[in-house]
Amino acid sequence: GKTISVAIDGPAAAGKSTVAKIIAEHFSYVYIDTGAMYRALTLAAIKNKANLEEEKEVADILAKIEIELLPAEKGQLVLLNGEDVTDDIRKDEVTNNVSIVAKHGKVREEMVIRQRHLAANGGVVMDGRDIGTHVLPNAQLKIFLKASVDERAKRRHEENVSKGFPSDLEKLKSEIASRDKLDSEREIAPLKKAKDAIEIDTTSFSILEVVEKIKQLMEERL
Ligand code: C5P
Repeated sequence: GKTISVAIDGPAAAGKSTVAKIIAEHFSYVYIDTGAMYRALTLAAIKNKANLEEEKEVADILAKIEIELLPAEKGQLVLLNGEDVTDDIRKDEVTNNVSIVAKHGKVREEMVIRQRHLAANGGVVMDGRDIGTHVLPNAQLKIFLKASVDERAKRRHEENVSKGFPSDLEKLKSEIASRDKLDSEREIAPLKKAKDAIEIDTTSFSILEVVEKIKQLMEERL
């Protein structure tokens, strides 16, 4: 049957990946987490002791690394040069530096090439910051997910607590706000709602309500 491409953008911790994974599984689509790609590069750059502010240093590292996003049936692992970095890319050191790495034009150019390649056969749900605006401007469905900073920090905090991770709500609020600021104010492909994206404010909706809404929008386009 017909398949479409779905772009899901929005600020940090708005629930994009949770929603995207459920949708992808439901339609047997491929889920592509572009944030994981920027995170894997950030991890590689930190390991290489690169100066993250230096565009060329970071771009040169990207040119040399392979980033693989394994599908759900293989555990949705993220591999960096074949090594499982799924957990490492979620650590604070990566989270708090990824927006520096992601602001470089040469980095974004290469990432977009890789991302379009992954999406070339359609049947994808891709989440990130610039998917609807830059990576897949022709996506048949574009969603912009947002929620208040307080709500996003609260959800992330509850997630951490339930996993037994240390978590500080006020610190989460300030980290989320500062990542949003860097991502929205950068010069190249900033976080921005595409003109033709459908905005969903998830502050007062549950994940399942958001999933139902997006499923409905997809059915209308199939
Ligand atoms: O989605 P996630 O929060 O894992 O993304 C991590 C970071 O990667 C973002 O804060 C942003 O700096 C960068 N990113 C980006 N463009 C994307 C996806 C992520 O710049 N398409």
